[in-house]
Amino acid sequence: MTMYTILRNAFLLALSTLAILSCATASSGNQAGGFDPGQPTVLITGSNRGIGLALTRHYAGAGWNVIATARNPVKADELNALAAGDPTVIVEQLDVTDLERINGLADAYQGVPVDVLINNAAVLGDLGGQFYGSLDYDQFQWTMAVNVFGPMAMAEAFEPHVAASKQKKILTLTSGLGSLTLMSKMQGMTYYRISKAGVNMGMRAIRANLIKDGIIVALIAPGMVQTQLLADSGYTGKALTPDESAAGMAGIIAGLTLDDSGKPTNVDGKTIPW
Ligand SMILES: NC(=O)c1ccc[n+]([C@@H]2O[C@H](COP(=O)([O-])OP(=O)(O)OC[C@H]3O[C@@H](n4cnc5c(N)ncnc54)[C@H](OP(=O)(O)O)[C@@H]3O)[C@@H](O)[C@H]2O)c1
Repeated sequence: MTMYTILRNAFLLALSTLAILSCATASSGNQAGGFDPGQPTVLITGSNRGIGLALTRHYAGAGWNVIATARNPVKADELNALAAGDPTVIVEQLDVTDLERINGLADAYQGVPVDVLINNAAVLGDLGGQFYGSLDYDQFQWTMAVNVFGPMAMAEAFEPHVAASKQKKILTLTSGLGSLTLMSKMQGMTYYRISKAGVNMGMRAIRANLIKDGIIVALIAPGMVQTQLLADSGYTGKALTPDESAAGMAGIIAGLTLDDSGKPTNVDGKTIPW
């Protein structure tokens, strides 16, 4: 074997190793070939844990095709185990602050109808930097990027997929903490609250654009739910399990119509005032 062949083989080996590694960390998308064409499809952000994982479990259990996205799929053990046993659950890498990846994923799924897009992923941010007087603006910007810009970019990128579907629904998870009415005297969690108020307005704006196309744009609050986010908030009161919240929200999502007000709906069915 010549030196050239040895070097060439080493180069090819390195290339194929890289290819395998990149498949493991980020599938390039459209694996929808495994989908059941007779069933609706949901795309969920932040599917690896918390409410996103419970929504994935719920829809997979109901027979839906699920595009389950996670920013770090290699570490998404529970999600990967679920997908391993169900060909209609496809795991895709997606950080909702990565516009290039959002658009790349939308391109990869071009022609695949998405009945329900669920913007679930969000961050609470470090509580210490959220008090007026000592606001941490880097964290503020990051929270806005994940919680507001991410859902807006997802809606823009996947609008054609939703428009091509039967159910035509874009859902964003919000919180009572984003209500100007309910939170008029609250201090702390400042930029989390601003981000949820902001995403409410963002979805309101998108709704005004898309209603003529028959696309339902809705806001839903999951209730107090036992997740890492709730634990990090310091709340220790009564809370739903992620599965209870996911089932409740799926019921509300199923009943959404174009005639709904578009105001945030809590998981118990009550309207949250703006
Ligand atoms: N839990 C509650 O009581 C409660 C109440 C009201 C509203 N909510 C809302 O419900 C939704 C889900 O919250 P949760 O309680 O399930 O929170 P969680 O347990 O903290 O999970 C958050 C999810 O978002 C993902 N995420 C964070 N940044 C991301 C990014 N840049 N790109 C993609 N994914 C990202 C996380 O992925 P990593 O694992 O990679 O970090 C994780 O999958 C959020 O919108 C939250 O605001 C929750």
